Amino acid sequence: MSGDVEHLETQSMAPVEFIVDQARVIKAIKLELEAAGAFRGIETNGGSKIVRSSLDVSADTAARICTTYQVSSREYSAGAPRVPRTLEGFAESYLHAQGFSEVETAALLRAMPQRYTLYPPLVLFSHSGARSFEHDAWGAAFARMDKDAFFAAMLASGCFPTGYTHVAANRPIVATDAMRRPFNIAPLYGELLAQGDAAGAQLWEQPTAADFARSVWCSVVQNGIRQTWSPVFTMFSRGNIKEKKRILDTYPDVAGRDVVDLYAGIGYFTLSYLARGARSVYCFELNPWSFEGLRRGLAVNAYPGSCYAYNESNESAPARLAGRDLDVRHINLGLLPSSRPGWGIAMGLALAHGCRPITTLHIHENAAASELHALADTVADELRALAATCSPGLHVRPRHLEKIKTFAPDVWHVCLDVDVSRSAE
Ligand SMILES: C[S@@+](CC[C@H](N)C(=O)[O-])C[C@H]1O[C@@H](n2cnc3c(N)ncnc32)[C@H](O)[C@@H]1O
Repeated sequence: MSGDVEHLETQSMAPVEFIVDQARVIKAIKLELEAAGAFRGIETNGGSKIVRSSLDVSADTAARICTTYQVSSREYSAGAPRVPRTLEGFAESYLHAQGFSEVETAALLRAMPQRYTLYPPLVLFSHSGARSFEHDAWGAAFARMDKDAFFAAMLASGCFPTGYTHVAANRPIVATDAMRRPFNIAPLYGELLAQGDAAGAQLWEQPTAADFARSVWCSVVQNGIRQTWSPVFTMFSRGNIKEKKRILDTYPDVAGRDVVDLYAGIGYFTLSYLARGARSVYCFELNPWSFEGLRRGLAVNAYPGSCYAYNESNESAPARLAGRDLDVRHINLGLLPSSRPGWGIAMGLALAHGCRPITTLHIHENAAASELHALADTVADELRALAATCSPGLHVRPRHLEKIKTFAPDVWHVCLDVDVSRSAE
């Protein structure tokens, strides 16, 4: 897959609004926005507050607010009416019209999810112990009224922008799955995969073009980069937006040079490097559905650099790159809970194709908060041990530890940047 194209399309960015479920952080967010001259008002939507700003979706302040206060954000159209209708208001009047009593309606509203994410054309609701459309209360309600009619009316109610056709419920992904597949996405309205369910190894491991055509494909723009994925088969994490921005901002010297992405997924980082002017990015990705998302993302973003993408294990990276005259500036290792399986491969690639004079490894890990202080040294020691055995003469120097987001209580998803070079300088 080679993505040689002529120009980079520019996109105007929309302002961002924050969805705040915890009242105690609203004041702090408002103060931060006021200090930046970017506060544009607060609305109520169900049990949530919507804090509107004039910040660009890629602004540092927007990413920092999301991380600091653990709130989600979304773009909105500044010209659109302010939060036209609340979900709670819609559900209340709909349930009454269907003959539900005040008491029944109140119980259903208490069990209704308050948070959702817009991944056009999909509205993805959150799921918690207390609130979910999958809870028994709603199951009983859907036995009394037409579920499809309820969600169709919701999509048409003005609660969401136009163009949304599907509704689903999200639950935490299975943490141990190496391919990061969203096993726990539950469709509520509309088929995410037409003509059949998502069972069967063939569909997961060897999908055909016809299978790709049957899936809904979601797409969002972050930092001006459009990312595309099948919500049935690939996980998407909005929370990585800050890390993508950091990569875009921190390493302008990638322009005209080469990058290896050992765990490419749908291309969060691959596309960022290409947007920053990388000459070529070599990508490895096991999951064929993520790979198809990457292919679609490359096609729609149309960057001048080349992307050589392989739907196979990164174990083949040394052979794939052998004999090529490259100047590998960055190697991305974006696998959780640990990218350790790729460290030896990365060191070998740095030795063979990089270190002119420095190759930076971006090592993603989940780490306990109590271990963060020692993480850089621990990782550097392991890399030095690898250098001693398979990449002789390489020097390892941790450069920066970025706390990306909390993964679980007291567990951080971090990225450790490590410079690898041929001299100790
Ligand atoms: C956390 S995701 C990466 C997210 C990625 N940065 C993106 O844009 O989607 C990790 C990815 O690594 C892939 N993966 C796991 N082991 C792999 C291997 N040995 N070789 C290639 N890809 C692998 C998984 O399928 C998964 O898509």
